[in-house]
This record gives sequence, structure tokens and C-alpha cells, in this order.
Amino acid sequence: MKRETWKTKTGLIFAAAGNAIGLGNLLRFPSKVALYGGGAFMIPYFVALFLLGIPLMLIEWVVGRYAGAKGHGSMTGIIGSFFNHSHGSRVLGSIGVSIPILIVSYYIYIESWTLGFAFMSLLGQMPEPVVSDDPKIAMEPFVSFYKDYTEPSPIAVVFLIITLIINWVILQRGIVKGIELTAKYGLPLLVAMGIFLGIVSLSMNGWKGLEGLLFIYKPDFSRLTDPQVWLEASGQIFFTLSLGMGAIATYASYVKKQEDVVKAGIYTAGLNEFVEVVIGASIAIPAAFAVFGAMSVPELAKEGTFRLGFMTMPAILMSLPIGSLLSTVWFFLLFIAALTSSLALIQPLVALLEDEMRWSHAKAVNVSMIIVTFGAFLSAFVPGFIDDVDFWAGTFMLVFFGLLEIIVFVWVFGVHNFHRELNTNSFIKIPKGLVYFYAVVSPLFLVLLLYFWGIVQLPKVLSQTDPNVLISRAFVIFIILLIAFFSVESRRRYLSGPHM
Ligand code: ALA
Repeated sequence: MKRETWKTKTGLIFAAAGNAIGLGNLLRFPSKVALYGGGAFMIPYFVALFLLGIPLMLIEWVVGRYAGAKGHGSMTGIIGSFFNHSHGSRVLGSIGVSIPILIVSYYIYIESWTLGFAFMSLLGQMPEPVVSDDPKIAMEPFVSFYKDYTEPSPIAVVFLIITLIINWVILQRGIVKGIELTAKYGLPLLVAMGIFLGIVSLSMNGWKGLEGLLFIYKPDFSRLTDPQVWLEASGQIFFTLSLGMGAIATYASYVKKQEDVVKAGIYTAGLNEFVEVVIGASIAIPAAFAVFGAMSVPELAKEGTFRLGFMTMPAILMSLPIGSLLSTVWFFLLFIAALTSSLALIQPLVALLEDEMRWSHAKAVNVSMIIVTFGAFLSAFVPGFIDDVDFWAGTFMLVFFGLLEIIVFVWVFGVHNFHRELNTNSFIKIPKGLVYFYAVVSPLFLVLLLYFWGIVQLPKVLSQTDPNVLISRAFVIFIILLIAFFSVESRRRYLSGPHM
């Protein structure tokens, strides 16, 4: 069976941008900036963008197109195709399919909250706001509402099921009629809603929100010597651009052979950065600053991403005229951003089952969704699951996999071959010297990050004694083994003949 390709160039760019733009841009980024040094955070952030984000983005596009032309869309098949599909290479590649599945297991649960909260706002079911400039008092009703909802309540389970069904249906419809169509409508809507809410937030209290924006970007240079700040900034680049997850490469595998992947990569990163640094920074933190004052911002950010998005924001928006509508727009914006990313996180497994196992598209989607549903329910019912899986898959494994990608796709493939592939059909010609530069500097940077990660963050996590972490870790190992099994089992099928 012929593999699908993106129907239009715009559709391809929108889908790729939708892949990258997600909760990371609108929730994770603003709280990290506020917490890790404001404008000073932007220095390691941009260093990581240029040393890791751009090269890895281009690598994933190049190898995606390269392996896609040979019929492979998952990291199992992509890495395998560089090693004659040896067992070891396919197993190694399979990690790049486990990572997005592990991430989406909790990501989709959070996505379902955004849908649930959007509906509750629309139906006037959000709590009555308490007007106060003390964030504790104003947020009180929303804190209990959030806790009751995510406990999980029966309504949370209903919205989780609805969210799973939406993803299921879109993925069943395939690349063009499913993912591309969703992105074609979703992305412009997302940008429009984001700009609208950005203006609402910045203009709050006589444009006090604008001061809030300047406040987040005010640099605290003393933070630059803290390795944690560098880890957080680099982790954010990986997460927001969906790198080291295999998700970009999978989308790239559906391009036409003559596609300009350098352009596609630059557009993907550019649109993502616009929605992160401009729109993401202009909504939640400026609104909190305008309403609760400068002092509240680091406090609110410290309490985490969920507090800012699901408690602070509705408390602020609901206290405004047409509050329910504004709150609906906020949560719907988050939902669209999350949906276009969750589809991209599931598609690598669909591609593995379809391209390598030679299953029908319907069967590949069904099995992928059953696995995702299992993970999503664990996220909902096992306390601490989200944080623990996010720690392993959402921060460590993707940095590790990013390093592996540079080694395999640039060094093993050969700088010369990689450079040739990179510049094939590209409008902008990338000099070979730059490829050499990245081939040396980016891995060194990654090794340094892994080292600091090992000494700063790992001990904290390993010292956890909560018995629930046994469940989340067992799940991580289960997914890695299951996907490795598919990758080895499919090798036999792959070698045995053409697509069915
Ligand atoms: N890149 C996606 C996000 O930012 C996963 O949420």
C-alpha cells in the first residue's frame, strides 16, 4: 500500500507547527521563565535553541524525508534503515517510539481537562469568582474546583473518554483527512485566540499586564551560574519543539520526495517560537501580574504549571465582564494546542505498526489507542504518575535520544551524506562547516546536560519513597519492552517482502 503524503505545503507546515505548539508553549514556558530568572532564562533558552533546537529539528526533518521515501515513518524503521535493519538498531530506534507514547499517556489526560474546563466555562458551570487582589482568596474556589475535578471526578473521566475518542477518530481518518485537516482549521484558530487573549491580558488594569510582560523578561543574571536554569531552559527547548521524541521525524516521513525540509524545519521552529515567546508569554503571567501584582508572580509560578493554567487564569478571567466566554476561549485555546500535539505523539506508534508490522491503518490506530488509553487511565488514577513519567520520558529520555540522533544521523551516516541530504531541494543552502560545527558542539552540550541532570535532578527523583512510583516506573518499562517487541517482531515481516 502506498504511504500517504501531506496534500498541501500549507497543510504540512500547519501540521508540523501544530505538532510542536502545545501546552508547553502556553503553560510550561511562562511558568519556567517566571521561575528561572526572567530575561536571564532567555539566554540559556536561546543558546539551547541554536545549539540543540535548530540542528535537531533539521536532523529530524532530513531523516524523516529520507526514510519516509523508503517506507519508514517510525524511529524503529528510520534508525533501522541506517544499519540494514539489524535487531539492535531497531530496538534502539524503538526508544524513539516509546518516548512519545509515554509522554502522551499523561499529556492526553491534561488535554482532557482543557476540554472539560472549556465546556464547563461555556455552560456556566465554573465557580463564582471572588474579587480580591490577594491571589489566595481569589483562587480559593478554583483551587477546590480543580482538585475535585482532577481527583478524578466522573465528569473528568467522561471528558477523558471524549478526548480519547476525538484523537482516535482523527487518527483513523489518516494523515490528510485527519491530521492535516485538523491543523488547517486548528492552527489559525489557535493563533487568533492566542492573540486575542494576549491583548486581553496585556490591557488588564490599564495596560498593567504590559508591565507584567516586561517583568517576566527582566533579567536576573545571577541565575545564570545555576545549572538547574540551564537544564530547565534546554529541557523546555526539547519539549516545546517536540524534539528527541521522534514525532517531528514521523511527520517528515509523509512529505513528498521533492519537499524542502530546511524550509519546513525553519517554519516549524519559527511558528513555535512565535507562539511561545510572544503569545505564551503575553497571557497567563501578565494577567496574574496585572491583577495580583508583581510579588505574586514568582509564587504562582513556583506552584507549577497547572496552578497557573487551571486555577489562576480562570480566577482572573471569570472576574471580568463576559468572564465565562473568556474562560471558554482560554481552555479551548489550550485544547486545540494540546490536540494537535497529542495526534503527533501517537502517530509514531501508528507508523510503526503500519509500516513495520504491516498492519492495516485501522488496526494500527486501534492498537495504538488502546495502549494510550491504558496509560491515560493510569495518569488519571495513580497519584504522582504524571510527574514521574514526565520526569523520565519528558525530560531525560528525550535528551538522551537527541544525543543518539546526532550520533547516528550525522556521524554514522556521515557528515558528507547528511549534508547532501540536507541541501537536496532546499532553497537555503547550509554550509558544510556549519554541519561540522553542530556535529561537534551539540553533542558536547548534550553530554554536559546529561551530566548535570545526573547530579542535580536524578538523586532527588531516586530518593522518592512513594509506592506509587513503582506503578509509573513499571509502566515506563512495560512500554519500552512492548515497543521493542513490536520492533523486533516486525523486522521479520519487513524482510519478508513488500507491503501488503
Ligand atoms: N511540543 C509539544 C508541546 O509543547 C509537546 O506541548
